[in-house]
Parts: sequence; structure tokens; C-alpha cells
Amino acid sequence: MSTVYNFNAGPAVLPKAVFPICADAVQNYANTGLSILEMSHRSPEIMAVAEEAVSLVKELLKVPEGYSVLFLQGGASMQFCMVPYNLLEQGHTASYVDTGTWAKKALKEAQAFGNVNVAASSADSNYTYIPKGFKVPADSAYLHITSNNTIVGTQYAQFPQSEVPLIADMSSDIFSRPLDISKFGLIYAGAQKNMGPAGVTLVIVKDSLLGKVTRHIPTMLNYTTHIKKESMFNTPPVFAIYVAAQTMKWLKAQGGVEAIQTINERKAAVLYNEIDSNPLFTGTAVKEDRSLMNVPFVLKDDSLMSEFLSFTKDRNLVGLKGHRSVGGFRASIYNAMSEEGVSALVSAMRAFAEIKG
Ligand SMILES: Cc1ncc(COP(=O)(O)O)c(C=O)c1O
Repeated sequence: MSTVYNFNAGPAVLPKAVFPICADAVQNYANTGLSILEMSHRSPEIMAVAEEAVSLVKELLKVPEGYSVLFLQGGASMQFCMVPYNLLEQGHTASYVDTGTWAKKALKEAQAFGNVNVAASSADSNYTYIPKGFKVPADSAYLHITSNNTIVGTQYAQFPQSEVPLIADMSSDIFSRPLDISKFGLIYAGAQKNMGPAGVTLVIVKDSLLGKVTRHIPTMLNYTTHIKKESMFNTPPVFAIYVAAQTMKWLKAQGGVEAIQTINERKAAVLYNEIDSNPLFTGTAVKEDRSLMNVPFVLKDDSLMSEFLSFTKDRNLVGLKGHRSVGGFRASIYNAMSEEGVSALVSAMRAFAEIKG
């Protein structure tokens, strides 16, 4: 079968090299005669999988001392509630930057736990930019940002300077570039975009922030529970963690986050150049805040939309339909999207312009 390029926003493209390893693990894990799917999470083999996954995160992101790495369930959406549950005292205020659908969902959830100060918002221009230079009240419990806005295709090139703990939803750009973890209080990311399959969520949390709120926190929603039990308080999603670990190993073999950042910048430049020079298309996010992960674009002539989608589908380019709230197209070009995939999309855009031009 010829190569199909997957531009879906999530679940999303994974490195091809990971699939045969995972398939073998399903058939017969490490010569145990058992499938990884039927093994106890307390067995030494599976404990080793979890330990390796944590150490890969620590190594790839250079996680400093004083931070815990957790693999939780409930998706990034569960973190919208766990963050304020654990970090926002009732009657106190947390600051949020409103940069789109996911940021808004996060801040709405926090309103159930304390006061929410919207420190900045780009709602005034359909979230096409990242607000900058805003003030954060010094008494905020934390500042919450969405580092990459999957739907509108904006991304923080630089993170805000923050006196208060910085919390980031990095669901759609974790592992896409180096990070200075010490600048963050907590980072969370649903795995299903840039680090693995759906079913597991990465949390990196600064231990010293925990244990300060006075409310009772249900056991499963308390970060401390999962830190104490090394993400094994209850049965973890073993296979999702295994696939994420294989994806991290692949990333390491590519040269890690530094090397992948260079490739990601190259892929994004090729695609944005085409969007800016092709007479049929136009980009929707402001140039300086364009995402290197999710590239939204529209046709100047809307009536050609379904024709372009079937034109690309015929060329094995799938998942290009934009989110229903933005319309147009969105090419998600996460770490595992090859440069060939991006070139194939650019060629299709050019060929379409020639036919229509
Ligand atoms: C930035 C961002 N945050 C949160 C979510 C929600 O993630 P989940 O489906 O894992 O709850 C998404 C999903 O697309 C997202 O892109």
C-alpha cells in the first residue's frame, strides 16, 4: 500500500518505526509468552516499562530535581479540574490566558474552585494571536497558559515571565522543542498528539506546590496520591504508556527535542511559505504567533473547499479538514510527520493552484 500521510490533530501520526515493536509486544512481550495487554501492572516487566517511560521524560526534557513525572488518565480535560483542585485555594484567584477553546475550557473549570482572573485574551480577534506584555496580579495562585492552540494554530514562541507558578497545557506541542522546566510549576499534556496514543496524560509537577490547599481532594484527583504510588495507585493504562515510551525512544534516536525542533521549524517554514505564496490559500494566524504543530489555512474562494479536500485525499493526504469552529483546513505536522509528508501536501497545493489558476 502506498504511504498515507496523516495530518489529523489528534489522535495523530505516530512514528512508523514504533508500530512493529508495539505489535510484537501485543503478541509476546519480551519473550514472556504473554501479551503486554494481559500482564499485571505489578509484574517486574511492566514496572520496568513505567520506570523507563518516566526516565525517558526526565532525560528528554531535562526535568530537574524537585519535580515529579506522572502518567494519569482522564485526558488533558481532567487536568482542567485537577490543577485548580490541587492548587487553587477557595476564595483565592488564579490567572488564565484565554487563547481559544481549550484555554477557555480550562478557565471555566477553575471557576468552580476559586476566582479566575483572565489576565489576557485574544477573543477580540478570533484567537488569531498570542497576547503579550500582560500583567499578572502577584497574589494569583498561578498563571495558566495553553502553549500551543491546536484549533487556531497559535503557539507561544516565548513563554510569559511569571512571578507566580506558570502552569501550561502542552497537549499539542510537548516534546516539540527544548523546555526550561524550572520555569514551570506544572505542565500537562494528553499523549495523543505528540507523544503517543490516547489514554494517558503526562503531568510534570513541582512537588513544593502541593499540599497547600485546605479542601479535601478526592484520592484519585490528588497529585500526591499518584506521586506516592509512582502512578500505580490504580491500574495504569499500561499499553498506552508502553507506546508513549517507544515514541520517546524514537525521539531520542532522532537526536531528542533539540534535533526535532530544527526539523519542525523546517517543516513549518516549507508549509507556511507555500500558504503565503500560493494564490489560492491564506493563513489564519498572525505570522509571529504561528504554530509549528498545527497549521490552519483557508481557500480565498470557499467554494473550492470540498474539491481540494478530495484532491488531497486522492493523493493519500488525510485529516486536513479544519476544526468546525474555524473551517478551512488544518495540517497537523507533529514530530512524527515526515518532511516527505509536508512536501507531498505542498505539491498538492501547487498542483491544485495550477489547475484552478
Ligand atoms: C491544547 C489541548 N488541550 C486539551 C485538549 C483535550 O484533551 P483530552 O481529549 O486529552 O482531554 C486538547 C485536545 O485536542 C488540546 O488540543
